[in-house]
Amino acid sequence: MIKVLSIFGTRPEAIKMAPLVRLLANSPHVQSTVCVTAQHRDMLDSVLEIFAIKPDFDLDIMTAGQNLAEITTKALNGLMNVISRCEPDLVLVHGDTTTTMAASLAAFYSKVSLGHVEAGLRTNDKYAPFPEEVNRRIAGVVADLHFAPTNDAKANLLAENVPPDRIFVTGNTAIDAMDGMVSKGHVFKVDMLNQLDFKGKRLITMTAHRRENYGKPLEDICQAVLKIKRDFDDVEIVYPVHPAPAVRENAYKILGDTKGIHLTSPLDVDDMYNLLSKSYLVLTDSGGLQEEVPHLNIPVVVLRNVTERPEGLEAGCLMLAGNTEKSVYEAAAKLLTNSGLHKQMSSAQNPFGDGTASIQILEAIIKYFRK
Ligand code: UD1
Ligand code: UDP
Repeated sequence: MIKVLSIFGTRPEAIKMAPLVRLLANSPHVQSTVCVTAQHRDMLDSVLEIFAIKPDFDLDIMTAGQNLAEITTKALNGLMNVISRCEPDLVLVHGDTTTTMAASLAAFYSKVSLGHVEAGLRTNDKYAPFPEEVNRRIAGVVADLHFAPTNDAKANLLAENVPPDRIFVTGNTAIDAMDGMVSKGHVFKVDMLNQLDFKGKRLITMTAHRRENYGKPLEDICQAVLKIKRDFDDVEIVYPVHPAPAVRENAYKILGDTKGIHLTSPLDVDDMYNLLSKSYLVLTDSGGLQEEVPHLNIPVVVLRNVTERPEGLEAGCLMLAGNTEKSVYEAAAKLLTNSGLHKQMSSAQNPFGDGTASIQILEAIIKYFRK
């Protein structure tokens, strides 16, 4: 039996690790243990419940308005302890959060092999996204097995001298997680969403939460959205607001109480997928949404200056809009007025995977340990 310890702490990590954790738990070759740092609390718990994951360890570290040093030190100390109790053969981490970085360091200090899921994403700008670009580089330096979602991600790792036989191009597990979740008759748990006029109106779903968008950029994004609603009468906008105080304050200050703009608490992931599937377009600075929304054949306006997912730009499913009021407004307006462009982006092929990433990762792990 291979002893695998999966470590994650935030909503997106949990969503993208869930299909793999399920396979690990059912594999006769693996003894699977799960540790959550709970860098997120309510947003994490909602995912754990939907995917029926019961962690073996829960560090429960989240505090309101936490800073990066606090997350790092609490996670690192707690994870050293968990690794020493479990003595795993392999620690698995995902992506680029502070939990990911701390877990990678904890595995390194404990001299345990590390597998990095969603490896090789790069912007080559250490402040964008901040601090994720550096977090994923640290995971990449420590990792023994790199599960890259795309060939571009593999090329980034090769350029950093990662041995080719340690890189597995698998697609992104985000696509696996969506399997079977979108249905025509879905009834939303947030009842306001059941009342929306999906037939008569064009729905825009938006999210914005990145640290580098805190302050002026987020204010600008919200002002652009306000203007879109003013200029396009047939548009209805839903914004599930991230609970970080820096996000909530601006979102509610600028967009709260505007007719046709609906601010909600974070949605459970099944509600989120179904809302996305009914959208005419999506505005977001999220990493995960850049992968999921193209899978639903819906255009994405990316509220950032750079993306570590250039495959989506090349394939034509993502449009990079920056984060100024003018650039965001113009990008959204273009898609709302140019139906040819909307059609073209909606029909672009999603380059982020075919829903088999988790099984490929499990097979690669088993092969590696058999050798
Ligand atoms: C984190 C990740 C980011 C990822 C994002 C996904 C880091 C540094 N950042 O950013 O890469 O894109 O998660 O959402 O790892 N909060 C709650 N309840 C929750 C979760 C958060 O109230 O369930 C609030 C708390 O006040 C918390 C704050 O949000 O202090 C910020 O959470 P944090 O994990 O530090 O940063 P995120 O912006 O969520
Ligand atoms: N998501 C969700 N509810 C929401 C907003 C997002 O379930 O209200 C999901 C979304 O579908 C995706 C993931 O959360 O799977 C993305 O998380 P987030 O944008 O917080 O982080 P990122 O991907 O940017 O790291």
